[in-house]
Amino acid sequence: MQQQKYKTINTATELDNKNFEEIKLKTLFRPLFHISPPHGLLNDPNGFCYFNNQYHLFYQWFPFDTYHGMKHWMHLSSNDLLTWSEHGSKITPLESYESHGAYSGGAVVENDRSYLFYTGNVKRGDERDANQCLAILDKNNQVTKHALNPVIESVPQGYTGHVRDPKIVKRGSHYFMLLGAQREADLSGEIIVYQSPDLLDWEFKGTLDIQVNGDFLDAYMYECPDLLEVDGHDVLIFSPQGVTADGTRFHNKFNVIYCLGQVNFEQLTFTVSHWDELDRGFDFYAPQTMANAPEKQTLIAWAGTDEHLPSEQQGWINCLTLTRELTVENNRLIQRPNIINSDSLIKQHGYQLNHQGVELESLSFSLEVNNLSNEKNITISLQTQSGKELTLTINNNTITLDRALYDHHTQDWEYGNKRQHQTDYDINNIHFICDQSIIEIYINDGRDVFTCLFFPEQENHQLTISTEKGADLDTQLTYLTI
Ligand code: FRU
Repeated sequence: MQQQKYKTINTATELDNKNFEEIKLKTLFRPLFHISPPHGLLNDPNGFCYFNNQYHLFYQWFPFDTYHGMKHWMHLSSNDLLTWSEHGSKITPLESYESHGAYSGGAVVENDRSYLFYTGNVKRGDERDANQCLAILDKNNQVTKHALNPVIESVPQGYTGHVRDPKIVKRGSHYFMLLGAQREADLSGEIIVYQSPDLLDWEFKGTLDIQVNGDFLDAYMYECPDLLEVDGHDVLIFSPQGVTADGTRFHNKFNVIYCLGQVNFEQLTFTVSHWDELDRGFDFYAPQTMANAPEKQTLIAWAGTDEHLPSEQQGWINCLTLTRELTVENNRLIQRPNIINSDSLIKQHGYQLNHQGVELESLSFSLEVNNLSNEKNITISLQTQSGKELTLTINNNTITLDRALYDHHTQDWEYGNKRQHQTDYDINNIHFICDQSIIEIYINDGRDVFTCLFFPEQENHQLTISTEKGADLDTQLTYLTI
């Protein structure tokens, strides 16, 4: 039943609106402090920026159903990155240059405005085309499409219609637009670059040569490129499609890579000093970093890539991760959840967890386990009487997250139910942040992160920690709400 696939929110009927209101009231699986759509489907974060003394965030939104249909840009704003006001669709694809959706893109803040770049997705029969478009967010919170749209019409020669997800960076007095692209000759993924003196007039420069040997370069498409500076390093982030598994890496349908190094826009090169998977869990894709970040560089991502999740029965699907502060330490990208110290987060009943475990009062909680250096083997488990179980095991620097007994896939899941990573450092602390149907696990203050969805029915959950030596651990369990 996809007859509503290319419909915009402006055509919602009274009946649609009534359904939307009913969906909003349903609480099963709904995170309390992670962003989820009021109804319909959410995917990539877009237009993330600090502008006019507020944080602004948009996301890819199909309001009518839980499949990928006509994409709108839902707008949210916040003072603290935790509580968000929802403003509805601010880029609604009504023009011929975006006839099949306002696809992803990023913001750049200049001249008292936030310039929101996005891809106008166009389909003609089986053919696809892409236009790069601009909309302006002003100080009255209005978003207006630019009269010169599309600012880049169609795709450069030699590329298929898969050219999308503009992210703009400013270097010197020039703006550079990075786009995910696919080459026509061999259908391989690339990042391409345009340059502009004024954000309106764009000249195609060519392909960004990522100078590293890695099988991940053999993707059929790169999506959502991002580039920023963190602690003196250039950081290139992208979401390749079609990479093959490599050891414990790339076990998801689509994966995300970060490279530390140096960009050179004259030569169109990115020299890589280190690269890795950005998140080691099951559900993490299409991250975007904040433009004009007032303090620390910050990233947010779509927690997912699955086509179907149990929440679709409730009329909505997918959520975003927490926003994560980025730093570079010892040539590694570190991600820390920035809301966790926020005053707006209400924290109740902080207490220590003993070996008996605890029956949880709520599935929105934080569990910190510190001083692990003397315990080489530890298991943290979230389980129910009916046999559902999610476990995180640390065994001599091998971290395993096992979702086999909490799998929500209706068929065998081709990528398996365990995610594993062997660290090259000793593990000292684990921070588990759970919010109804999403868990983010931060190891050693964000040195590695695992993002994982799970779909608990209304059942009680036990949280237990067991260790080989039975050492007294320094644990802190805190219920979280906003
Ligand atoms: C990534 C992506 C982008 C595209 C958007 C469409 O998840 O496929 O490349 O712009 O989603 O919703």
